[in-house]
Amino acid sequence: MSLAPIDLFKGWPATHLLPINRFKEAATKKLSDKSILEEAFGYGPDEGHFPLRQNIAKWLSDFYAPAQPIEAERICITGGASQNLASILQVFTDPLRTERIWLPVPTYHLVYRIFEDSGFHGRMGGVPEDESGMDVDALEEALERFESSHANESSSGHYTAKPHMEYRKIYTHVIYCVPSFSNPSGTVMSIKRRESLVRIARKYNALIISDDVYDFLCWTPGSSTGTIGESLKRFVDIDRTLDNGPHDRFGNAVSNGSFSKLIGPGCRVGWAEGTASFVYGLSQAGQTRSGGAPSQLMSTFINELLESGFVQQYVTTELIPQGRRRYTTMSSAVSEFLVPLGVTFSPDHEKGAMAGGYYIWLNLSEPLTAAEICQNAEKTQNLVVGSGDIFIVPGCLAPGSVHRGLRLCFMWEDSERLVEGVKRLAVVIKAVQDGGHV
Ligand SMILES: Cc1ncc(COP(=O)(O)O)c(C=O)c1O
Repeated sequence: MSLAPIDLFKGWPATHLLPINRFKEAATKKLSDKSILEEAFGYGPDEGHFPLRQNIAKWLSDFYAPAQPIEAERICITGGASQNLASILQVFTDPLRTERIWLPVPTYHLVYRIFEDSGFHGRMGGVPEDESGMDVDALEEALERFESSHANESSSGHYTAKPHMEYRKIYTHVIYCVPSFSNPSGTVMSIKRRESLVRIARKYNALIISDDVYDFLCWTPGSSTGTIGESLKRFVDIDRTLDNGPHDRFGNAVSNGSFSKLIGPGCRVGWAEGTASFVYGLSQAGQTRSGGAPSQLMSTFINELLESGFVQQYVTTELIPQGRRRYTTMSSAVSEFLVPLGVTFSPDHEKGAMAGGYYIWLNLSEPLTAAEICQNAEKTQNLVVGSGDIFIVPGCLAPGSVHRGLRLCFMWEDSERLVEGVKRLAVVIKAVQDGGHV
């Protein structure tokens, strides 16, 4: 095969976007600072490097402008969103008490195993999603049905797999989602649905785990300042104020943040935000108590980048313009080469949708299937794209459209290859539509 490979599946930042030189400076500065060496190379506090918690709290307060400023006690440092999802489940769920995990369809596919590792194999429920995000009415109906069909049976009786601890509570349900610039569909959940979801979570003793890892990458027309405004208000902010605030000291939402999509996944540093009690409880996970918060040394480097204002400036002057350019390049190519073949896509900023994040989601027209197109693309065009099937919640009968969904990432390959990749995809779709192979 003579075609150069193109990978539109990989959800990584392009290597030339990584701020290597500034990172080197930050690391050198920290490693030369004798006063911090013991702290940086030693076991850190359970909640993580305090200056980083403070600086993240300030950054988030500036960015989200919530009704009340965010204090450091609402933040703990994590090893990134994936590691922290596992920690949250370790502390706040119990496979004998927590009934079910609810996820939108399509969902970020790499979380399934994390739920399974925590004992929830076969206990994940899919909730349909539309252009306004997860269908919260459908979720409430499913919860209602589930609760009434299990009202008289308590499979686990009084048993628990985990001991009672003052620092935690066990939630009955977990609702996982990526409400802003979702992976994979790029969808933004409406504020009305976000509020409804918090009310539903309170009613059913559910914890909303929200991966807010793409929020900073928003370039909807008019949002050039990088200020996110009311429309991307996080669940944790809603939970603080809605209907007089949280129902108990733990609240019903946790925000999972990460530096992976901003300054490099290899850093493995993120943060969690929730009520002070929730965050303290999270920091008491056994794996954290033995050694303190993860990624302590790297936390000190990242703190230097945040304290100096570099991260904030980098997002505004590099990542957002790059993201906007790349998204526009790819969505224009999709409009030119794929829409005439019956493909629809989201988010479409031309139709008023908020654009941001890393992904464009395509819907193929019937009778094409994602699996068929992906196989052909790889075999004949040396092109990799994300097949809709992998984003279906395991064991869920997914709506047909997901089987016709394709995820394209516009942050990994350069602009020319984004266009070339879309053109190759058009060749594949046309060939399959014409009844043959390329
Ligand atoms: C929604 C979502 N959550 C989590 C992650 C992984 O984050 P981290 O690198 O912080 O573990 C990704 C990466 O693609 C993602 O898209």
